[in-house]
Amino acid sequence: MNTLKCALAGAAIMLPASAMADELNLICSADVVICERLVTEFESSHPDTDVNMVRMSSGEAYAKIRAEARNPQTDLWWGGTGDPHLQAGHDGLTAEYKSPMLAELQDWAQGQAEVSDFRTVGVYSGALGWGYNKELFAEKGITAPECWADLLDPALKGEIQIADPNSSGTAYTTLATLVQLMGEDEAFDFLKKMHANVSQYTKSGSAPVKAAARGETGLGIVFQHDAVAQAVSGFPIGVVAPCEGTGYEIGSMSMIEGAQNPEAAKTFYDWVLTAEVQNMMPEAGSFQIPSNASATPPEEAPDLSTIKLIDYDFAEYGSAERRKALLARWDDEIGSLPLQ
Ligand code: F6P
Repeated sequence: MNTLKCALAGAAIMLPASAMADELNLICSADVVICERLVTEFESSHPDTDVNMVRMSSGEAYAKIRAEARNPQTDLWWGGTGDPHLQAGHDGLTAEYKSPMLAELQDWAQGQAEVSDFRTVGVYSGALGWGYNKELFAEKGITAPECWADLLDPALKGEIQIADPNSSGTAYTTLATLVQLMGEDEAFDFLKKMHANVSQYTKSGSAPVKAAARGETGLGIVFQHDAVAQAVSGFPIGVVAPCEGTGYEIGSMSMIEGAQNPEAAKTFYDWVLTAEVQNMMPEAGSFQIPSNASATPPEEAPDLSTIKLIDYDFAEYGSAERRKALLARWDDEIGSLPLQ
């Protein structure tokens, strides 16, 4: 809040309503650096609006919005994987909005809007994979895994980190990807075997590759753009697109049903879909593919056309029944296992 806004907030009782700053309560589910950058840029281009932003992983954000359903404290949810945004749409927790910016977006971003009856929209995309610490692997004589199957190599014992799919959209995308690649029973069998190599299930999706960058673990299963971000920052991180094929996210944005500040939410919604704003993402270390067709994909972003992508079924894996059932099975069969 700037000094003028502080003064106005303090003097609010004495002032007519028109003199008070607007508010926007934002949940941001991407990396905190881009979240903070968006808030700073928005507040400087919209000086009448104060943004109260909280950073939460995708699954956590969904849970907060659900818990607040009767008395929403959030106006807008930007970023995070698309599946929980779709689930929130099905649950009626998010509001229909057809932004005038829709026509400027890539087909996959418009498709996300259509499949949700315009309760969410695509803001970026990126493919799943992993990042590993090249120096640490060389020191330990471990061969870098190229395929999902290689993650079961006993040489990787204690070297893998991945997030918990309840809190993290990245980890839920991994779970849904494996189910689509292998079949559900086979995917859970794979995850049980991989558990022998896992040292930690983190809360946030990108934490595993940040830990690999610092040499605290060997490998993090993450979106490839999050591994690229560590490599661009100078860490010895190798980025892998798994040989069998992989899933991807359509990072999304949703307006909250019953939001207290719907006009401010619409203003931010339209603004953040512009090419100009999306072009700022790489400056903040975010290397996803932007959804505005006129925005420039970052040079460093993994080229989705060269990656073997599965035909990820967003409607199915973003549905409330499927997501709930997969998470319950993960809790029962994986989350309950003791860490080695
Ligand atoms: O910060 C980048 C990012 O990987 C996004 O691309 C993605 O939508 C989000 O984080 C997912 O975070 P989490 O797994 O913590 O929900």
